[in-house]
Amino acid sequence: MTGVLDFDEMSYAGQKRLRFESLPSQIKDRRGRLIKLRAYEATDFEGLKEMYDTFEPKGLESGLPPLDDQARLRWLNCVVSDLFNVLAVYKGRVIGHSALDLSCAPSCPEYLIFIKKGFRNCGIGTAFSMVMKRVSKEAGCEKVIVTVRTANTRAVKVFKKVGFEFTDEIEVERDMELKLKQAKTSRTKICKR
Ligand SMILES: CC(C)(COP(=O)(O)OP(=O)(O)OC[C@H]1O[C@@H](n2cnc3c(N)ncnc32)[C@H](O)[C@@H]1OP(=O)(O)O)[C@@H](O)C(=O)NCCC(=O)NCCS
Repeated sequence: MTGVLDFDEMSYAGQKRLRFESLPSQIKDRRGRLIKLRAYEATDFEGLKEMYDTFEPKGLESGLPPLDDQARLRWLNCVVSDLFNVLAVYKGRVIGHSALDLSCAPSCPEYLIFIKKGFRNCGIGTAFSMVMKRVSKEAGCEKVIVTVRTANTRAVKVFKKVGFEFTDEIEVERDMELKLKQAKTSRTKICKR
């Protein structure tokens, strides 16, 4: 069976229970570095926290990751307990993080992605977003949305390459939507609480 979503007993870090054909996967970035994309596990918390503690710039994208240490820790605790999280790992270090709120599948989860400085502009964000698109499809989502700063032209370019389209007027921040075509018979089993 593919893509089993099991929201049973929801300690969402029960994301251990979420299995997707698209994960884990491995990509080679433009510098030839092998990056593993895999689902977050509870033991990854310190590694993910380290990525965000050293992330630059903080607070730019919808205030994320929060500048204040305590606020950032609270935010991270919410993200890992409420969302489905995927890590990009290079030589054992977390260098990228992406998350989707799959608790609302098959509705419209919001997407977030952060790649650490030193790994940007090497094709990782695009490949990562393609994998997350496949994960969303496997989860049975009809669409995915993302909010992005208009000035963040690199993020806009990546999202457009993956298939996101703007859904609102030009503002400082804009919403983008990725429509997902589902196969007539979804092979994904969704067990809700
Ligand atoms: C936005 C982000 C996720 C993109 O990931 P990435 O790994 O850097 O992106 P990629 O290398 O896959 O692709 C970048 C693309 O944008 C292009 N690009 C680079 N700088 C650009 C700029 N200033 N304006 C427009 N396009 C730009 C690159 O040429 C590349 O396109 P190409 O593959 O056609 O050559 C990453 O840069 C990041 O985490 N940034 C900080 C946090 C952030 O902005 N998150 C998104 C919040 S919504």
